[in-house]
Amino acid sequence: MTTGNWWASALSEAVNNKKPLAVACDGEELALFRDASGRARALEDRCPHRRVPLSLGCVVQGGLQCGYHGWTFDGESGACSDIPNLHGNERVPPRHSARAYPTREADGFVHVWLGEGEPQGTLPSTGYQPVGREYSGSAIASVPHDEYLAVMLDGPDCLLEFAHVRMTDFFLGDPREEEGCLVLDRGAVWSTQVLPSQFVIDYPLMVRTAVPLRGGMIRVQLLDQEEIPLISLLIGTGGNRRGTTSLCWRGFRHAHQPAKVPLRWRAARRAGCPPFTVKTDIEGAALARLLVAPSRDLRQLRRPSLIPVREAV
Ligand code: FES
Repeated sequence: MTTGNWWASALSEAVNNKKPLAVACDGEELALFRDASGRARALEDRCPHRRVPLSLGCVVQGGLQCGYHGWTFDGESGACSDIPNLHGNERVPPRHSARAYPTREADGFVHVWLGEGEPQGTLPSTGYQPVGREYSGSAIASVPHDEYLAVMLDGPDCLLEFAHVRMTDFFLGDPREEEGCLVLDRGAVWSTQVLPSQFVIDYPLMVRTAVPLRGGMIRVQLLDQEEIPLISLLIGTGGNRRGTTSLCWRGFRHAHQPAKVPLRWRAARRAGCPPFTVKTDIEGAALARLLVAPSRDLRQLRRPSLIPVREAV
């Protein structure tokens, strides 16, 4: 299934010029690698010769070499550039070509255009500008992609947690459309607060989730009472096989520190402990308990049309 969008398919540092990386995104199987110029490339993970996954091969000077019979495919065009053991008067037949996908890099992710023809529009704006140490990872979550996006609005604490912070069920306003995303703010408290969250009136913290109407890049922020960001996080998502979701993420702790902050938060910061955790072992019972509320709007809005996007970095 291709829907004609840019998809953040892998962390930039996971794509190299030695071993191709197999990823699945929005129903497409891809082999990612870097060519001789260092540019990230994406080919369909299927050799046009005998259908062997190209990700089982290796990166060579001319592109990606299949591990079975050694044919090599150019990363930009997908054309077969070399077949071993051809006689001197034989040439590579032009019909042998792997499907190549346009790629771009921004915010530390390799984005792949999964659509027909030339890319339309550009990469979604994220405003991600890390300072200090970044925390990143990738995994496959055992939840279908549409559900993963919906749960990020209905109950993000099922999918991620901020250290020493407790998210509440209380929305701070209605979901709103902003820059191609459905954005929702919910109150949060320090985990050390003894007051039950349902009696809290002024929340010292806010969790802002921005779920895309096209593509799969989720933005999450933990903000203080003045809406100054404490933690920013990007999660690239895409449908994998058998109802699972590919995830790759990166995030960081901002320099700002609110005045009233628990000692354990300060200690964790000094020790360099990860400020957030993206859950990969997702509890089914917790998902089943969630009310379907803001995600109703999301399902309506994730329609097949292109949204305005900014120029790629
Ligand atoms: S299967 Fe790839 S070269 Fe033969």
